[in-house]
Amino acid sequence: MRSRNMLSMFLPALFISLSILVAGKELPKDEIKGAQLYDSGIRHANNIALKMETVARQEEAGRFNMALYPEAKDVVECVNGTAVAQEGNANYTFRCHNIDLYHFLNHADLGSKLVGGSSTWGWTSPDGREFVAIGQRDGAAFAEITKQGKLVYLGRLPEYSIPSLWREIRGYRDFMIIGSEAVGHGIQIFDMNKLLDIDPAQPITFSNSKDLVGHFNGLPNGRTHNVVTNPETGFIYSVGAQPRNSTCKSGLIFIDISDPSNPTSPGCASEDGYVHDAQCLIYHGPDTQYEGHEICYGYNEDTLTIYDVTDKKNPKILSITSYEGAAYTHQGWVLDSKNQHYLLLDDEYDEHDRVGPGADGHPVTFIWDISSLKAPKQTGYYKSGARGIDHNQYVVDGFAMQSNYGTGFRVLDVRSIPDDPTGKGVKEVAFFDIYPEDDAETGGGVVDFVGTWGSYAYFKSGYIFVNTMERGGFVLKMKDGTRV
Ligand SMILES: *[C@@H]1O[C@H](CO)[C@@H](O)[C@H](O)[C@H]1NC(C)=O
Ligand SMILES: *[C@@H]1O[C@H](CO)[C@@H](O)[C@H](O)[C@H]1NC(C)=O
Ligand SMILES: *[C@@H]1O[C@H](CO)[C@@H](O)[C@H](O)[C@H]1NC(C)=O
Repeated sequence: MRSRNMLSMFLPALFISLSILVAGKELPKDEIKGAQLYDSGIRHANNIALKMETVARQEEAGRFNMALYPEAKDVVECVNGTAVAQEGNANYTFRCHNIDLYHFLNHADLGSKLVGGSSTWGWTSPDGREFVAIGQRDGAAFAEITKQGKLVYLGRLPEYSIPSLWREIRGYRDFMIIGSEAVGHGIQIFDMNKLLDIDPAQPITFSNSKDLVGHFNGLPNGRTHNVVTNPETGFIYSVGAQPRNSTCKSGLIFIDISDPSNPTSPGCASEDGYVHDAQCLIYHGPDTQYEGHEICYGYNEDTLTIYDVTDKKNPKILSITSYEGAAYTHQGWVLDSKNQHYLLLDDEYDEHDRVGPGADGHPVTFIWDISSLKAPKQTGYYKSGARGIDHNQYVVDGFAMQSNYGTGFRVLDVRSIPDDPTGKGVKEVAFFDIYPEDDAETGGGVVDFVGTWGSYAYFKSGYIFVNTMERGGFVLKMKDGTRV
């Protein structure tokens, strides 16, 4: 009798804690922690310091020595869980599943003197040729990916001011939009059509004074963490433009590039302060009152913050929401831009800080139901079997493409989410681990800021470009049948 009472006393509590573990949960923003740690900039400054420490450690260990990373010319199939590009060389033995290697060139072969890779984006020419822009410390390299999946280096656009580890690139129609954390950099607007007639035997170093379509120099001190683009509306958005005490508070800065040679800013959304990354889209989805509005999903360090930016003079915040295990709300993507019912969010420091579902050092992809833009619900998550940190992702036709630092490039089939938003049906269908250096560590990986930063997987050919911090660029392709 007595023990049954005890049980019924404890059961509800047990049930609640288990359901949190399984389902995850949205929370109101913690205002005190928010002000002290995030809005103050302390957290972000600490993140930057941690990454600089990692880079220094990697330099010390010789990981930026390009002589270690010769070209991998031939197609290397993923067989039995590994792609062996050089027999007997652990540095060229890549763990993989359903992804083959087509080509690899290191950052020096991709024209960089300072090496050190960051973001990337791709462009398809009107006649179907495929090109990538590759972020490096000393600018953006350009290469074509041939029909055979080989990278052909064509030239580069040097940094606008000073070199930086942080260079983010996104596409906007025929242009690459390039921002950096370097002071004085501003935003470069480069027309990819300039690459069409280059003789690869004579790569071109473009000039910032002569070869840009346009340059936006209206940022407070030239720094921006990323630049988000919305080709549907003619706008690009600076996010995380320092300093935080500037007029726009490092929020969304609206930049009209309908005349790309003369970018202008009609305003900004400063109300929830610093935005680390965002996705801005014309809204289509279940919250019908917003149909046709321009909505930005902001990844704001401690919260998912949703903006209605239709009226650039009077942007509105629809919601500010945190969640269990929030350490550094980093980036994310809607599942389906035609029906914005769910989104995926990655938190960059939950694994590092050992909080929430990422406490054991396995990257967590948080699933949100955004059917009410004013009251998003955190419905569940997918947890990677690999050990490491998640970084940047986007969704292509129901597959999340993730660049997860030392665990490499990973593809999740997320098509089950509308039927099961807990995430239990999410499956990893392919991966290619571009960072074998940590494979022998406990759990098969390090919780550190190494390996891949970003990728581009929208090409019709199926080629996927993966940029890495230490080595260079990989051309990969999923095996036929992986995405059916
Ligand atoms: C593999 O890379 C490490 C640096 O990360 C280097 O010390 C080692 O010599 C490399 N091995 C080979 C076979 O190149
Ligand atoms: C794959 O691995 C299994 C066992 O580890 C082995 O029996 C088989 O021969 C391997 N196949 C190939 C193609 O290497
Ligand atoms: C803004 O912050 C910077 C430090 O990032 C400081 O040097 C500057 O004085 C501040 N400006 C204002 C107006 O508070």
